[in-house]
Amino acid sequence: MSEPLTLGVAGLGTVGMGLIQLLSAHATRIEKMLGRPITVTGVSARSRKKEREAALGGAQWFDDPVALAKDPSNSVFIELMGGEDGPAKAAVEAALKAKKHVVTANKALLAKHGIALAKLAESNGVALNFEAAVAGGIPIIKMLREALAANEVRRVYGILNGTCNFILSKMTDEKRAFADALKEAQEKGYAEADPTFDIGGFDAAHKLSLLTCLAFGAAVAFDEIHVEGIENITSADIEAATELGYCIKLLGVAMQTEHGIEARVTPVLVAEESALAEVSGVTNCVGIDGDFAGNLLLVGPGAGSKPTASAVASDIMDVARGLVLPPFIRPTSVLEKVKGLNLKAHQGNYYVRLKVYDRPGAMAAITKRMSDENVSLESIVQRRPGPVHPGQAAEPAPGEAEAAVNVILITHDTTEDAMRKALRAIEKDGKITERPQMIRIEDL
Ligand code: HSE
Repeated sequence: MSEPLTLGVAGLGTVGMGLIQLLSAHATRIEKMLGRPITVTGVSARSRKKEREAALGGAQWFDDPVALAKDPSNSVFIELMGGEDGPAKAAVEAALKAKKHVVTANKALLAKHGIALAKLAESNGVALNFEAAVAGGIPIIKMLREALAANEVRRVYGILNGTCNFILSKMTDEKRAFADALKEAQEKGYAEADPTFDIGGFDAAHKLSLLTCLAFGAAVAFDEIHVEGIENITSADIEAATELGYCIKLLGVAMQTEHGIEARVTPVLVAEESALAEVSGVTNCVGIDGDFAGNLLLVGPGAGSKPTASAVASDIMDVARGLVLPPFIRPTSVLEKVKGLNLKAHQGNYYVRLKVYDRPGAMAAITKRMSDENVSLESIVQRRPGPVHPGQAAEPAPGEAEAAVNVILITHDTTEDAMRKALRAIEKDGKITERPQMIRIEDL
């Protein structure tokens, strides 16, 4: 029998322990497939004493992940610690310099240092595989790197954060409060250690930056991706979207336009009959428009121990088979650094919710500002003021604050520049009680 493939695993959290369990559960079939076993010879984690669900076998313990990365007892370094700098970066660099293959699930590290690390892997003739960094169990990186490599990709998009999708689904289907749904996502192990990465859209943006580089061979600096999270989505928006036949999703989109690459992560409205509307809970999806392959949509679990471990294990098996591909599909020398487009040029339909004082002329002032910017309205819905349940007052009692109503506008196709100008003018007019809510409508 051939020599085992030896692994040094740094990080024994949700994904790390999932990997240990997978390698143990499937040891025999993996060995049969590869003609050699996979053995974890070294491990490292923050706490040695923590109780763990799976046995670590005879693996040697390392307090320092960099020492594990350099140690000659393993030939593949598995980085599952997370963090865009610090020990994860130091350990990955050390492993690549020691001519070890690296498998990582660390999207933040790759979004920031991916090109430099890919260069290091390339110059040392080793693999840098990161299937688990994007959309958990969905094999999107293999799809782009291998099956679709001959295509020119025109657009890549997806529901890339399970926590946000879980929260939005709970708010929609069960009318749950935002905080309550977030707590459940954390308990289930979907959320990042700091959940603001999830709900602020940054986790999805890390993934989108990797997809952009893989799809277009263009490295858009992370801070040039337009990012909006779901923290300002209210139950009023969820309700209004549902009534109008839409569903709210946090979507990452990167597309080639005639002016360059537009890359954004924002909440969007999608029609309820869209396939994206069906993607609920922690499920992710990634869509690709390839010029020869056509439009593809992959749907599956985007987070959690088992799906993510499955992706890490597939990368390890590629290494065991001797498959070493350029991390971003082409040599780093042909990767271009490009500026992400300013979203002012974005074109599409928009949803706007305005909290408007219920007084004569307010609506006329709003529609005038829209028409001044050449924004045409597809629909206008004014909700009743105040409580809407039978038997309760709909108007404020004398002496109470002036009533305000939610007005929902859906626009025809227009530019973001026009929308921003119209909404700024509406704010200045003083006929609304809070900042306008504007959500892009995605035609998918
Ligand atoms: N926090 C991430 C999510 C985990 O919710 O999708 C997977 O990257």
